[in-house]
Amino acid sequence: MPQYQIGHSPRLSGEARVSTAKNAVLPILAAALLTQEEIILHHIPTLTDVNNMLAILRSCGAEAESEGGDVRVRAVAAGSPEEMSLLRTMRASVLILGPLCARNGECVFTMPGGCAIGQRPIDLHIKGLRKLGAQVAQAGDAVRVTGTLKGANIYLDFPSVGATENLVMAAVLAQGVTRIENAAKEPEIVDLCRFLSAMGARIAGAGTGNIIVEGVPRLHGAEYTPIPDRIEAGTLACAAALTDGSVLLSGARMEHMRAVLFKLSESGVIVQEDARGIRLRGRARQPMEARTLSYPGFPTDMQAPLMAVATQTHGLSVFLETIFENRYMHVVELKRMGAQIRVEGQLALIQGGRPLNGAHVTATDLRAAAALMLAGLAAEGQTLLSDPAGHLMRGYDGLEEKLRALGADAMIIRQ
Ligand code: EPZ
Repeated sequence: MPQYQIGHSPRLSGEARVSTAKNAVLPILAAALLTQEEIILHHIPTLTDVNNMLAILRSCGAEAESEGGDVRVRAVAAGSPEEMSLLRTMRASVLILGPLCARNGECVFTMPGGCAIGQRPIDLHIKGLRKLGAQVAQAGDAVRVTGTLKGANIYLDFPSVGATENLVMAAVLAQGVTRIENAAKEPEIVDLCRFLSAMGARIAGAGTGNIIVEGVPRLHGAEYTPIPDRIEAGTLACAAALTDGSVLLSGARMEHMRAVLFKLSESGVIVQEDARGIRLRGRARQPMEARTLSYPGFPTDMQAPLMAVATQTHGLSVFLETIFENRYMHVVELKRMGAQIRVEGQLALIQGGRPLNGAHVTATDLRAAAALMLAGLAAEGQTLLSDPAGHLMRGYDGLEEKLRALGADAMIIRQ
């Protein structure tokens, strides 16, 4: 079980290189199933979730290798995964549904597990596939999707990131034109569509609420480097804001991070964009109000890391989590460190300004783990972060190493 030791840290300073985005890499890997030709991806981070997705692709019959940051996938043959248990390791396994239905007209699949932050249903994915002409039969936790897909007009009741990605990937080989209304606008959607276009797909409107896909007979191979990880960058920005740091996040893109950077600058951090990325100086001082929303609103994945910052501002911060039903599990652990937080339903009231004390805390989900590591930087004394499910390694490529390179007292003490 991974364990991390974090001590009170001085001002962070220096440069951190932002990795490519986990939430862009995962759908792009799934999209590799849409062609028999080779896909080459560069600068892919070392993450458990990436390795899990590569294992799923192999289970679908594809060749998939990862070497020194480059990933090659070749799905000459591709079918439903042989090893269904792999699909329960990660929610994003649902993203093979669209590509396999598009390619084979069939996919046998198992319902992906929920996770700590919510039930994570896939009703919008299924409803959209049905609109494209698929038949969906469910027996227990097994789902069989069959049918030749035809273009259709789809309206998403909620701008689901995963449903948008799955339905775009289903539509690229469908007969005719598909319009997806109320689509998610996240940068990772735009990146997936850019990758699909590099494979020969015909997509318009990516990044808007209306995506139009004109089906084509086949897609070809492509070589691609995904976008930088705006959530890793936001997490590092929060570390700087907690320690009155002066940090350059090289590779970070301002246009992907406006909501987060506005919150930090409203709180007193100086944020500057330069040719190499984003520079942050100073401490977050003023309390914050954050309501999580679909992009371009404040991202739910940054709610926990920003809450760690809020515990050290002077006053009452108010957070409202509107995306997931159970995404405050970091609160209990932060309170063990002395944070003054009260949760009322989806509302969290954070009375800042009280010092945190190091404690033995436990990670409950990926972003909670990051928030607790950040809190340890500001806490007096030593914090021991236990991560029994290895959450941190799922979504961050050596977060403790990047923080330590900036001067933080953070290290992994047990793998
Ligand atoms: C993606 O998850 C991200 N994961 C999540 O990041 C992120 O928090 C989330 O989008 C929101 O931005 C990946 O990209 C791999 P959704 P996804 O479908 O696609 C409900 C992280 O920490 N919903 O937009 O699963 C759902 O229950 C992870 O990196 C339905 O009700 O998110 C949730 O409440 C965590 N029915 C809300 O919509 C559906 O069919 C948002 O889900 C689909 C979703």
